Amino acid sequence: MTVHQAIIGRAQESPTAHALDRPTLRLVTCGSVDDGKSTLVGRLLFDSKMLLDDQLDALTSDSKVAGTTGPALDFALLVDGLQAEREQGITIDVAYRFFATARRRFVIADTPGHVQYTRNMATGASQADLAVVLIDARKGVVSQTRRHCHILALLGVRHVLVAVNKMDLVDFDADRFKAISTMVRTMAGQLGLTHVQCVPVAACDGDNIIHSSARMPWYDGPSVMQHLEQVDVSDGIAERPFRFPVQWANRPNAEFRGLSGRVASGTLRCGDPVVVLPSGRRSRVSGIVTADSRLQQAVSGQSVTLLLADEIDASRGDVLASGAPPDVTDHIVAHLIWFDDEAMRTGRRYLLKSGTSSIGAVVSAMKHRVCIDTMAHEAAPALEANEIGCVEIALDRPLVCDAYRDNRDLGSFILIDPFSRHTVAAGLIDAPLRRPANISWHPTTVDKAARARLKQQKPCVLWLTGLSGAGKSTIANLVDRRLCELGRHTALLDGDNLRHGINRDLGFTPEARVENIRRVAEIAALFVDAGLITLVSLISPFRADRDSARRRFGDGEFIEIHVATPLSTCEARDPKGLYKRARAGELSGFTGIDQPYEAPDRPEITIDAGAVSAETAAELIVRHLREQHYI
Ligand code: ADX
Repeated sequence: MTVHQAIIGRAQESPTAHALDRPTLRLVTCGSVDDGKSTLVGRLLFDSKMLLDDQLDALTSDSKVAGTTGPALDFALLVDGLQAEREQGITIDVAYRFFATARRRFVIADTPGHVQYTRNMATGASQADLAVVLIDARKGVVSQTRRHCHILALLGVRHVLVAVNKMDLVDFDADRFKAISTMVRTMAGQLGLTHVQCVPVAACDGDNIIHSSARMPWYDGPSVMQHLEQVDVSDGIAERPFRFPVQWANRPNAEFRGLSGRVASGTLRCGDPVVVLPSGRRSRVSGIVTADSRLQQAVSGQSVTLLLADEIDASRGDVLASGAPPDVTDHIVAHLIWFDDEAMRTGRRYLLKSGTSSIGAVVSAMKHRVCIDTMAHEAAPALEANEIGCVEIALDRPLVCDAYRDNRDLGSFILIDPFSRHTVAAGLIDAPLRRPANISWHPTTVDKAARARLKQQKPCVLWLTGLSGAGKSTIANLVDRRLCELGRHTALLDGDNLRHGINRDLGFTPEARVENIRRVAEIAALFVDAGLITLVSLISPFRADRDSARRRFGDGEFIEIHVATPLSTCEARDPKGLYKRARAGELSGFTGIDQPYEAPDRPEITIDAGAVSAETAAELIVRHLREQHYI
């Protein structure tokens, strides 16, 4: 067992079981190993007696072999084992450590300090009450310090303890500490970090970690531990408007009907009025119960079951509120911290999870990217991994939410890729977007079904995807002709042709293709509404965009046809001479050459157009329509 396994194992044994009654402070540590972050964390654990003797034995021998501190104990070895695991490709993104003192319990989220680990820091910081930022006294405030503070400000971590470390290496110079503190305060003020405490420390020797250091008599503030034990981070959450996301409707028998969940903010007393959102129904709290008792009031952080005076429909995903109401909106402005290696693109569909609700969502507009070093707003078409940006998001149905600055629980969400199931982003809600009140959905009398009956066919879209030169347009044209011969009503949307008109403004960057496909899907949907069998011939190289298009249609309305001609055949045909130009470097971003084509996973029809003629392919498609009773 290595030292770090020992300490994590120890943490999991719940060393604080005897201390569950004490309040918990959640910390995130920011800084690199070079700043002494690991040493500081190791010191806090060591000095709060969180190490067992066998771990100390291991630490002593490890320090002799691998340490950098000579005969002294190298506390960094306690936590740096994680670093080694990361280097071996075993990902522990955020390591949580637990310890307790007589006054408080602590949970430390230790996140890697490296530039590209914005996402890890964001993960740790989003749960934190307070951040410990490490600064090397010799270096002062560096760009990484700024970056960390920006992310903390963005995530609403208002309390920061800045440990100015390695004071021993600057001869415990008071002026050096004061100069750094002044810089920190100026920066914090600009960022709106309201509660900043600077402490001069020498983590390796324990100066000002637990006890005040005799080597810095000029410093009269608290030690790191004294500050952590005393600081008030409640920020008045119990006085804020009441919010209660319902986790489940608890109905063990016909007499009892409760709503279970955790109070996200505010205080609720028996008899208080509440509103259930999004429905807007009102009632009064008739009881507050926990597993073993009845309460007169519930405050933020408590898990309870609420009883209402009236029989009101409420279920998972609903929010009970009182005081200033939250927003109920299907369009939001938010900051995203992008996690996924695949970039965020506008127009793509994701699943938004906020509290207990899950809602289909589309990033409808990219407003700007935030430069993490300067906080400047930059124009950008997309967000890459570890980037932060401001976007607009359209939701399939209304979400009950608050701005993140007002309520971290109701103001935050994650985005999930519906196919890979990866969490692709963390989001912070800035504000709801109000739809223009003068635009509404106008009901129409003649609907799709009526139009379809009139035309005696089942309208659908035949979406032909494949490489340039695969034969999509030729096949689509033949199918169109054949259907017309059979007396069917059709429309044909060809990518090249549309690019002369409605899509004239679009090029071939991935973003432009997303928009191209979105527009064509919208037009196709209008044609299907009109009762037509609609043929679409579009390279549509990205799976996610084709799947977004599919979702625009009802069950059975979207027939994906992969015209699967091999690249070598397309290139040999090269009907427009474009492959030749792409190979010569005259065209960039050409599908199949220097931009990928993602073949469909489960198309309704696959056509091996290298092996069958266009006529045979067209016949196959018409037969499919007949057999499936579209015509
Ligand atoms: S899509 O990728 O956005 O679906 P679309 O089908 O509309 O593409 O247009 C593809 C047609 O544009 C090709 O058939 C080809 O004639 C032409 N074209 C010009 N530049 C490119 C490029 N870089 N990549 C692919 N097609 C291109």
